[in-house]
Amino acid sequence: MDIARWAPSGDNLQPWKVVWSFQTDRIVAEVSLNQESRTPRFLEFEFRSLYVALGAFAENLVLLLAAEGYRLLKIDANAQAEASEIAFQLVFVPSGTGRDEQSFSEISELIKRRTVSRYPFEMRSVGHDVLDSLKKLTEKVPAVRLLPLNKDRRTLARHLMGLDVIRYEHAEIRQSFFDRMRFGKQNEIEGNGLNVKTFGVPTPVQWMLWSFKRFRGLYIFFSLGLQYIYAYLGCYRLIMRSGDLFAILSDDDSPLGWFRLGMVMQDFWLELTRRGISMQPVGVSLLVYRYRKEALRNVFRFSPKQQVRLDRANRFFSEQYSIDLLKPCLVFRAGFGPRIQNLSPRRENQV
Ligand SMILES: Cc1cc2nc3c(=O)[nH]c(=O)nc-3n(C[C@H](O)[C@H](O)[C@H](O)COP(=O)(O)O)c2cc1C
Repeated sequence: MDIARWAPSGDNLQPWKVVWSFQTDRIVAEVSLNQESRTPRFLEFEFRSLYVALGAFAENLVLLLAAEGYRLLKIDANAQAEASEIAFQLVFVPSGTGRDEQSFSEISELIKRRTVSRYPFEMRSVGHDVLDSLKKLTEKVPAVRLLPLNKDRRTLARHLMGLDVIRYEHAEIRQSFFDRMRFGKQNEIEGNGLNVKTFGVPTPVQWMLWSFKRFRGLYIFFSLGLQYIYAYLGCYRLIMRSGDLFAILSDDDSPLGWFRLGMVMQDFWLELTRRGISMQPVGVSLLVYRYRKEALRNVFRFSPKQQVRLDRANRFFSEQYSIDLLKPCLVFRAGFGPRIQNLSPRRENQV
């Protein structure tokens, strides 16, 4: 558990909870959302990004248990449950190989040094052999495939940036996110909120977050149009400055479909780490998914301008890449370049 929790999660929410059941011939891990902690609805949509994070966390358990001599027999989900109550049951059985101390420490070390970089990468491609090895990782997972996004990079970056701008323009969502954020003493007293410390951001950024919360500064921020600069730096520039871009797609839009996507994401991330390559998710694709859900259009109230932007992006993705944006899709950039040595901090384990 101590190692598995170094999995990535959108906004570092670390939304996982595990109930273990040790039986004579098997171990069952029931992975679900930690309702008592932080699951604000900002980046995530219908809990989709949270299922991705649960999947990444579960993949760590699968890899660690493999080194302990257990193999994953099956995964089930209580698909009829409320979106927030979904639990993913992973059943492990002895693989007959026994415990392997060396592979346990190797995989632990890899999980803990997963490359994270939010800086521009070198422009050279990661190479066909690397993409082929990633493709292989998807072959064992039902309904999941890898799609390199190597056509028309500039237009792709422009569309993704357009989506990112819309993400930042959703000030209400942002505000509810900040409302749940706890600072200093407030966190000690109230606990359970979104603890700013675990974001791992530098102090000036903490001040900025505090002022957003304190003065509802987001509205000022957006009226100045700073979301364009933010989206340019955090999305456009990074997409233009990366070796390769690719998407992981699934034909299965169920919670389990997204969970499996998260498992594959973590597999990819570790494989690239092993090869000295950095990877970074570009989470805006979740927003596209949201847009396509007719029922939710009213909830999110896109302006006519945003709607045009979304329609254009949608047309681009379906024409250029035959991507059906209603289905699970995560976009990543990968490449050689600077790496951050340490992952963001993690909350204490609650056993
Ligand atoms: C579904 C999902 C979407 C994410 N989207 C983004 C993103 O758009 N931009 C980004 O820089 N990181 C993104 N991340 C990475 C997380 O921000 C990062 O993993 C998290 O803050 C924890 O930090 P660490 O990976 O350094 O431990 C995403 C992660 C997940 C699981």
